[in-house]
Amino acid sequence: MGIPAVIAHGGAGPGPERGENVKIAVRVASKILESGGSAIDAAIEACVVLEDDPAFNAGTGSVYRTDGSVLVDASIQTCDGRLGFVIAMSNTPNPIRIAAALLHEEINGLAGKGAREWADKRGFRNSEVEGRTPLEGIGDTVGVITRDKNGFFACATSTGGCSFRPPGRVGDVPLPGSGFWTEKGIAVAATGNGEVITKNLLSYRILNKFSNSSDSLEDSISWGLNEFIDDSISVGLISLSDTGKGVGLANTDMPWSTWIGN
Ligand code: GLY
Repeated sequence: MGIPAVIAHGGAGPGPERGENVKIAVRVASKILESGGSAIDAAIEACVVLEDDPAFNAGTGSVYRTDGSVLVDASIQTCDGRLGFVIAMSNTPNPIRIAAALLHEEINGLAGKGAREWADKRGFRNSEVEGRTPLEGIGDTVGVITRDKNGFFACATSTGGCSFRPPGRVGDVPLPGSGFWTEKGIAVAATGNGEVITKNLLSYRILNKFSNSSDSLEDSISWGLNEFIDDSISVGLISLSDTGKGVGLANTDMPWSTWIGN
């Protein structure tokens, strides 16, 4: 048996005032975990809360691409080695649900038109995503990591993509090791400039540092930010290991919140 916990963030960049919105998602996950629910369900439902909240650049609040389209990415990984991700989906308010459905499939990932067709065949919601005008400083991703009473981990992330990016551009969120990585007893999720996060395989490197040193989670994230990220480029990370609460750290504002059960 383990002690359930959750940590969530609302993206590198938005002001700390969005912290209250992140807490709502954390509460949803905590209720599921407290009542014995799975880390997977808790991560998905908390991520859906953030996708449905127009304050965040994910799902409903996703920023327009440079051609005015709204295209969303999402991913989920579990500590038993399963993975699901979707890339550049249109008309998809909750891409995390489609990424999660891939946990049960042979394929890991789907992109674009094919992803939408796959989701349509299985009855996933297909409706126009409102989206919004990109603005400097709008956060770029949401992320949730959960640990359930069995010590099982899940990590879910979702985004409309960084602001001022063209249609077809792929960021870190759906790329394993870049925007997220999960193993037994630990998970890391990133937010911020997807190009820099991807070039540095940032989530995997930080997880690897933690697993192969005596550094704390905080030290490991701090190491990753100092080693690979120029301070002028906004990046943040959250992480949760097999004991204690989650840790969040960013070189900019990043609303985040964590909860631990009994
Ligand atoms: N970090 C989100 C993105 O670059 O798309």
